[in-house]
Amino acid sequence: MKKDTILTGVRVSDGLTLGNFLGAYVPMANLARKYVKTYRFNAFIPDLHSITTPVDYGGLQKNAMNSIKYYLAAGFDDLRDNENVSFYRQSRLSAHSELAWILDCFATMGEISRMTQYKEKSDGRQESVSVGLFNYPVLMAADILLYDAKYVPVGEDQFQHIELARDLGMRMNKKFGSGDDELFGLPEKTSEQVKFMDLTQGLRIRSLTEPEKKMSKSHESANSKILLDDDPAAAAKKIMSATTDNVGVIQFDMFNQPGVSNLLQILSLLSGVSLSEVVGEWSGKTSYGELKRATATVVEAFLMDFQARVAAISDDEVTLLLEKGEARMRPLTQEKIERVQRAVGLR
Ligand code: TYM
Repeated sequence: MKKDTILTGVRVSDGLTLGNFLGAYVPMANLARKYVKTYRFNAFIPDLHSITTPVDYGGLQKNAMNSIKYYLAAGFDDLRDNENVSFYRQSRLSAHSELAWILDCFATMGEISRMTQYKEKSDGRQESVSVGLFNYPVLMAADILLYDAKYVPVGEDQFQHIELARDLGMRMNKKFGSGDDELFGLPEKTSEQVKFMDLTQGLRIRSLTEPEKKMSKSHESANSKILLDDDPAAAAKKIMSATTDNVGVIQFDMFNQPGVSNLLQILSLLSGVSLSEVVGEWSGKTSYGELKRATATVVEAFLMDFQARVAAISDDEVTLLLEKGEARMRPLTQEKIERVQRAVGLR
């Protein structure tokens, strides 16, 4: 029987954050460690997504290499040769773009205009942002539907895009599927995804300076985010200067105390201790300084270890992995796009 696919991608750009790491790389690696025998794992580089906003074009290759190193360092290292694990670049498998175009012709302007990430990133400057940025969620739907992916570990900010992939897949199945032989396998609803990832809710690491917002690589303030290539001691200082509140008592309450709750969450995720245990240990204490110190210590230790592991992986190893993954995916994606072309009458 065909194995179901679990798939994720991280848009490569300079300066990926701790939010990206904890929201995407780690959950993907944890699922792979648990389920590598029963599912296929596709960890890919959405490099076509990278150019939807102006970037350092000359740095794209290096950033793509780094992203694969991050997957390996996040827990894929000893699974890299497993036949169920594939690494690949979206731009090297043309079926991604071909399927995106077909889906474009069935997605509506109305539904894509409602996607909040586009609105946030375009920041009211609709006239001057690229059509690619507008279209970004449809390409993402193609990334998912091309492989009939069932689970897509992402942070909470991407849930809306997964629901869109589900809607588009369902629409195509209704129009072009035939009974049991559906055109696309659909991603599970995000509420089911969260359960599968063993979370109580979607994951959202907050900005250190404005904790009501998510930690974001595009945020200008360097103190708002921990970058994966930050100097570990400097990163610890950022935690020490994180914005908290004046309630005066530590409690896990994302709504009223997002800064303190964010620190508890980071502490739990990086120390491997469950959130309820961490909250149990710190709740009721009054020294925010102590909580910051404990969090700063785990962040510093994590970055030292992580960066050493990344540095030990060579570009040549990564190139080989990508070529192997792309060779494995090419016939599968070709078969799928031909099937879709047949279904819509192009063949
Ligand atoms: P991107 O590059 O914006 O973010 C990559 C991943 O990091 C997660 N993330 C966070 N998680 C928790 N807290 C945060 N503060 C935080 N910031 C970012 C994001 O939710 C995401 O999981 N559209 C995707 C890339 C993509 C993709 C796909 C993902 C393209 N095609 C197909 C899955 C499947 C993106 O730009 O994510």
